[in-house]
Amino acid sequence: MQIVCGIITISDRASQGVYEDLGGPALKAAATGYGWQVAAEVVVPDDQSEIQRAVRTQINQGCQLVLTTGGTGVARRDVTPEAVLQIADREIPGFGEAMRMKSLAITPNAILSRSLAAAVGSTLVICLPGKPSGAVECLGFVVGAIPHCVKVLQQVPTSC
Ligand code: MTE
Repeated sequence: MQIVCGIITISDRASQGVYEDLGGPALKAAATGYGWQVAAEVVVPDDQSEIQRAVRTQINQGCQLVLTTGGTGVARRDVTPEAVLQIADREIPGFGEAMRMKSLAITPNAILSRSLAAAVGSTLVICLPGKPSGAVECLGFVVGAIPHCVKVLQQVPTSC
């Protein structure tokens, strides 16, 4: 299934140019490897309104899947889950559960990530950790369910 995908890097420092964004390009390489079309990429600070604006913009650009990296942890500025859940129709808890469960075999710090997935309108938004290798690993743990989930979310409801 051809999936049109957007990528959002959420990091105060990367957005200020303090350091290079490595998470976005790592996710782009992974998404391209899965055969998806990456249609939009942006770097935003750890700010709820900016995160929400970026998600909405990518949805308006036709992204059926939006991957975010960063801001899922427990630092005071980590607000990605709050930002996405505020505009979501509903969370899809299995994604977060699987990512944490599988990641715990790699690092005990995985328990700190509040990674999640949610439906925002017809778009699947998946919030991944900020570390590039962690983001790619977590995507790999849930990739098997993504095409079906995107397909079901994109279905136009039939009237009864
Ligand atoms: N998950 C995997 N698979 N691999 C990792 O390296 N890093 C953890 C965790 N999840 C990691 C991971 C760490 S160190 C943190 S602090 C949290 O994700 C949250 O990261 P974030 O705040 O940058 O999103």
